Amino acid sequence: MGRKLLTEHINVEGIETFDVYRKHGGYASVEKALKTMTPEEVVEEVKTSGLRGRGGAGFPTGMKWSFLAKPEGKPRYLVCNADESEPGTFKDRYLMEKLPHLLVEGMITSSYALGCRTSYIYIRGELMYILRILEKAIAEAYANGFLGENILGSGYSLDLHVHPGGGAYICGEETALLESLEGKRGNPRNKPPFPAVWGLYGCPTVVNNVESIATVPWIVNNTAAEYAKIGVGRSTGTKLISAGGNINNPGVYEIEMGITVEEFIYSDEYCGGIWKGRDMKAVIAGGSSVPILPKDLILKTAAGEDRLMTYESLSDGGFATGTMLGSGGFFVMDDQTCIVRHTWTLARFYHHESCGQCSPCREGTGWLEKVLHRIEYGHGHMHDIDLLVSVAKQIEGNTICPLGDAAAWPVAAAVRHFREEFEWHVKHPEQATSPGAVFNKN
Ligand code: NAI
Ligand code: SF4
Repeated sequence: MGRKLLTEHINVEGIETFDVYRKHGGYASVEKALKTMTPEEVVEEVKTSGLRGRGGAGFPTGMKWSFLAKPEGKPRYLVCNADESEPGTFKDRYLMEKLPHLLVEGMITSSYALGCRTSYIYIRGELMYILRILEKAIAEAYANGFLGENILGSGYSLDLHVHPGGGAYICGEETALLESLEGKRGNPRNKPPFPAVWGLYGCPTVVNNVESIATVPWIVNNTAAEYAKIGVGRSTGTKLISAGGNINNPGVYEIEMGITVEEFIYSDEYCGGIWKGRDMKAVIAGGSSVPILPKDLILKTAAGEDRLMTYESLSDGGFATGTMLGSGGFFVMDDQTCIVRHTWTLARFYHHESCGQCSPCREGTGWLEKVLHRIEYGHGHMHDIDLLVSVAKQIEGNTICPLGDAAAWPVAAAVRHFREEFEWHVKHPEQATSPGAVFNKN
């Protein structure tokens, strides 16, 4: 049984209330930080822990904090990115719904470390019921002296607000999120400048994912050294994985970094194997924006070693043989899954969600969707398969924000690893159009 740093008390009855949360050690990190540590010491602890951003990019959290500019006369902001919209990813939603006070506690301790007087949780618009849960938790924290003026008599004051988005996937991109929070259309900004220098209202801002912030209390309470003992190499601590698709036990799991992918998929503690006794065809390991891998490559690295649930092992060999841990949305497909249909579904999503600012993404996502549609529905030509790769290449690296890459990589990887399935669709249009038709090598 792996250690549970975030979810140890998640099933305790009433844990969403202040009193029960407090009885189980809640808000201890606020007391410890505000009474015994300087903000710099908290930043140093997070740095030493090796915690990496849990939203998907895996950027070291402590390093991001240390980049925060401190110009005279300008406020600094902490914004929690709770706009979890990545297909297949639902771990932040679970955490906020079950343990709202853990996020509030993490926001207070982190805001203290960063010297923020006002902080925000920007939550996905579809999650209004969780917004209410968070608002209740925030009100309880105010009532108990953990938010507002002079918290615990320390002289430190903080106001915390929760703000809903309007349901656009692109508003999870940190600069689009800031635009939206400022009341504008959520269009991504060019980076640099990074938010650490020019963020909310033009002020220095840290944008962190829900899980990253929820991990800070454990690090402060138990020390960075203890945190760094868990995991492998530069992938320290635990990670929440939302597992879905054709598995026996879909759900959210807190894993210790470094267990094997095979254990995660097949052990009863986690996914419990492939449903209906079928074989596994492919996996998307880190949300829909990362390359898909076939069974043999998801289980073994390029060097033939067991692939581990870590940032490094999952990306081993680059995109030819690797993928990314990403947002932790782990999606397993059985041997009855049609890769062409799956890829088309994703392409539709990205085309729909493109904000349209840059032409490679705006036009390219449309092309990907159209070409995939005609292959899936039996009107494709052989040269369409290379056209997909060509369009994906022209999008990659040529856009303002990562949505362009996110649309291109899954298509390029699907063609790279499952080309014969695309060819089968072209050669057998009558079968490709029949509902549920799946390429089968045999
Ligand atoms: P990024 O790599 O551009 O940036 C990571 C973070 O580090 C950002 O906060 C950025 O401001 C900061 N940073 C990087 N270099 C910096 C510097 N020199 N100075 C100061 N700060 C710096 O990646 P990004 O755009 O934040 O995230 C992309 C990832 O998001 C994708 O890989 C994908 O996995 C994930 N994603 C997650 C979703 C979700 O629902 N959880 C949705 C869509 C994508
Ligand atoms: Fe908008 Fe796409 Fe350009 Fe991102 S890559 S700014 S979503 S058009």
